Amino acid sequence: MARLLFLGDIVGRAGRSAVIRHLPALREELELTAVFANGENAAGGSGINLSIAHELRKAGVDALTLGDHCWDQRGFESDIQQLDFVCRPANLPPTCPGRPWLIVDVAGCRVAVLTLLGTQFMKVRADDPFRAADRLLAELKPQADAIIVEIHAEATSEKVAMGWYLDGRVAAVLGSHTHIPTADGRLLPRGTAYLTDLGMTGPYRSILGREIGPVVASFLDGMPRRFTVADESCDVRLCGVLLEFDPATGRTRRIERFERSIAP
Ligand SMILES: [Fe+2]
Ligand SMILES: [Fe+2]
Repeated sequence: MARLLFLGDIVGRAGRSAVIRHLPALREELELTAVFANGENAAGGSGINLSIAHELRKAGVDALTLGDHCWDQRGFESDIQQLDFVCRPANLPPTCPGRPWLIVDVAGCRVAVLTLLGTQFMKVRADDPFRAADRLLAELKPQADAIIVEIHAEATSEKVAMGWYLDGRVAAVLGSHTHIPTADGRLLPRGTAYLTDLGMTGPYRSILGREIGPVVASFLDGMPRRFTVADESCDVRLCGVLLEFDPATGRTRRIERFERSIAP
């Protein structure tokens, strides 16, 4: 049985230090076969850069996905080309740089991972994620034994709709982007593992990873403020999901939420 940990959005220094410090031991403790993570907020809370991507890879992240913040760090649109373990959202326009998916060998099973951006309440220009899923699945079928789809979206309805749409066609549909973990992890009737949101890997004494004060204040008066990323003292947790699947068939057997608090 292969055991895959998929971590939700890594946020800021606090989130990435937690991964760098704790993932190597966690890989042993949980007998993980592979680790995937969303890194869209790893650099200063917005985007990722070349050196951080390499640090996370070195710590044991086999595949890094991104989301609506993928181009927030200057120069990453060219740096992404040299990172063969990083993919950008698959339903961005085809002229965007970066790999639309990754295929990782997990105990002999070719596991494809791709991220689809939602379209509800999202500001990024992306193609329809449902039609994109159909197209991508057809392309990936001959190349992959199992497919994991990350639905990076704001609306829970759009995420759960994607889960049902792909039930029986992929190994898992896992939500990200809201930074708030949800408790609905389950196997859908046709065998697809589903969870609405992985939660973030970052500081939880915060508002979605940002310091509480300025965010609350801006809700009160609507004035623009700098939203500083919360630091390592703010209840940092590694958050995501553990999937168990049969590498021979690519079928998911078990889905379990994962959450681990890190002492400051
Ligand atoms: Fe995020
Ligand atoms: Fe996002």
